[in-house]
Amino acid sequence: MKEVQMIRDLILRNRTYRRFYQEVAIEFETLRELVDLARLSASGANWQPLKYILSCDPQKNVLIFPCLGWAGHLKDWPGPSEGERPSAYIIILGDTEIRQSFGCDHGIAAQSILLGAREKGLGGCMHGSVKKDELSRALGILPRYEILLVLSLGKPKETVVIDDVGPDGDIKYWRDSDSVHHVPKRSLDDIIIGQL
Ligand SMILES: Cc1cc2nc3c(=O)[nH]c(=O)nc-3n(C[C@H](O)[C@H](O)[C@H](O)COP(=O)(O)O)c2cc1C
Repeated sequence: MKEVQMIRDLILRNRTYRRFYQEVAIEFETLRELVDLARLSASGANWQPLKYILSCDPQKNVLIFPCLGWAGHLKDWPGPSEGERPSAYIIILGDTEIRQSFGCDHGIAAQSILLGAREKGLGGCMHGSVKKDELSRALGILPRYEILLVLSLGKPKETVVIDDVGPDGDIKYWRDSDSVHHVPKRSLDDIIIGQL
């Protein structure tokens, strides 16, 4: 039971963070350790088709940032401003010379990385909304590699809380007047639809 509490606590703390202390650098070795967690994670038929590009260099980070979509439900927020941007990125690629499709490997890899990051006092965001052609061009990524997800990482500079989804069923996250980010989650009874 204690172990379940530990993993529950880590998952609870592992919120999506989109504002960071940009001045807090992340070492390349830290990114390598995080990718090692992905390396050890599950992979469909154990094909392990994922590859990674790591960036913790502010001059490279500026090439990545404009290619990412931020918080689609926050219509008036264009993303973190200078000073609150990520210190590092991990780009998750599918190597098409290993497989043509990647199942949910990248989601599993992303979660492993973000859980590890949280344990290190960092946090981040998965980006499915990516200008992939632009990013490939900016970084010179070979056509062999399909961009699947980008993870932004940094030392979180925001409070994120989980709420229950209200009676209106609205799942859109929102920010209150104190800039606290609220994430409504459906109840357990709503999502378990059968007991066989
Ligand atoms: C596959 C996937 C893609 C996502 N893409 C984006 C994205 O492009 N931009 C963004 O700001 N958040 C993105 N998110 C983060 C979600 O918005 C976030 O997980 C959701 O609001 C719930 O918040 P939580 O992670 O704190 O539970 C993505 C999450 C997942 C799982």
